[in-house]
This record gives sequence, structure tokens and C-alpha cells, in this order.
Amino acid sequence: MPPPKRHAIRAARNTDLAAILALERACFVRPGEWFNRRQVARLIGNPRAQVLVIQMGKHLAGWGASLVRQSRESLSGRVYALAVHGDCRGQGLGKKLFARLVAHLRRRGCRYICLEVRSDNAGAIGLYRKLGFAEEKLLPDYYGPGLHAWKMVLLA
Ligand SMILES: CC(C)(COP(=O)(O)OP(=O)(O)OC[C@H]1O[C@@H](n2cnc3c(N)ncnc32)[C@H](O)[C@@H]1OP(=O)(O)O)[C@@H](O)C(=O)NCCC(=O)NCCS
Repeated sequence: MPPPKRHAIRAARNTDLAAILALERACFVRPGEWFNRRQVARLIGNPRAQVLVIQMGKHLAGWGASLVRQSRESLSGRVYALAVHGDCRGQGLGKKLFARLVAHLRRRGCRYICLEVRSDNAGAIGLYRKLGFAEEKLLPDYYGPGLHAWKMVLLA
């Protein structure tokens, strides 16, 4: 694996909105899978969310988001978004970004951490498995008719 170019992982700002939306369009084929402007803006402003971007020069190479949820008894976490631009994949950036999101959820006290991923997304599933997640439940038609998802959970 070639070493990644100089980059910095930092918290997203409102001024990153357009670049994050462009990443979504570049990384996902179906419009139904994209986050829209309102969703991303809400995430950035949500104190329970961590929204990170990978800055590479003037451009964003990736972004990701996680959310903490409070139930009556405990905190749980969800990795909500993860995308690395096609030109920047295979350099360990996705793994690094994902690991940062998960570490933050753990620091916030989440014992249970989960995510959803398209059941045919072998790349992302491989990455999540490498970082300790396992498929828990198949969610039929989660992303639309015939587009199933795996719910994956972090094994303690
Ligand atoms: C999934 C994604 C974020 C991975 O980003 P990346 O920067 O290429 O990933 P990395 O280089 O950090 O690879 C991490 C690990 O995942 C595995 N992996 C990555 N892409 C893979 C692929 N297409 N097939 C199999 N394994 C893959 C690698 O084995 C790698 O492990 P290693 O470092 O031990 O070799 C990226 O492919 C992407 O943005 N895809 C489109 C959006 C998407 O599907 N997001 C996830 C939605 S749930």
C-alpha cells in the first residue's frame, strides 16, 4: 500500500458542506444513498455527532460521521457515514477515519456501536470486519427495493 499523501483529519465546518455533498455524489451511485445538504448541515451542528473530514491540500479526500444516542440505561453509538474519494482509496485513509470515529464513540462512553452497510459493499464490510465489527442482522430492502443492508456491531 503506498503511503497516503499529506493529509489532516479535522472536524467538519459549515464551509465544508459543498465539498462533502460533492464527495457523496462521487462515492455513491444512487441518489437515495446520498446525504443531502440539510442532513449534513444538521449533523455538523449536532452536539451528539462527530463529523470529520480528510483535508488533502485544497480538497477533501473523505468524510465520516458518527452519532451518540442516549437511551434510558446507556449510551450507544452509530457510525453514520464514511466515504473516501475514489482517487484516494487504498491508502489506509478509510481505515484511519473510521478508527477515529469509533474511538470517539468509545471515549464518549458508548458500549454498543453499530452501523448499516449495503450487503453487496464488500470493500466497506471488509474494512469494518478488520476493525472488529461483525454482521449482526440482515435488513431487507433497507436502501430501497432489493437493496439490502447488514447491520454490523462492534464486538466487545
Ligand atoms: C469503504 C471506503 C471508505 C474504504 O476507503 P479506503 O480509504 O479505500 O480504505 P482503506 O485503504 O483504509 O482500506 C481499509 C481496509 O479495507 C479493506 N478494503 C478496502 N477496500 C476494499 C475493497 N474494495 N475490497 C476488499 N477490501 C477492501 C482493505 O483490505 C483495507 O485493509 P488493509 O489496510 O489491512 O489492507 C471507500 O472504498 C469508499 O468510500 N467507498 C464508497 C463509499 C462507501 O461505500 N462507504 C461505506 C458506506 S457504509
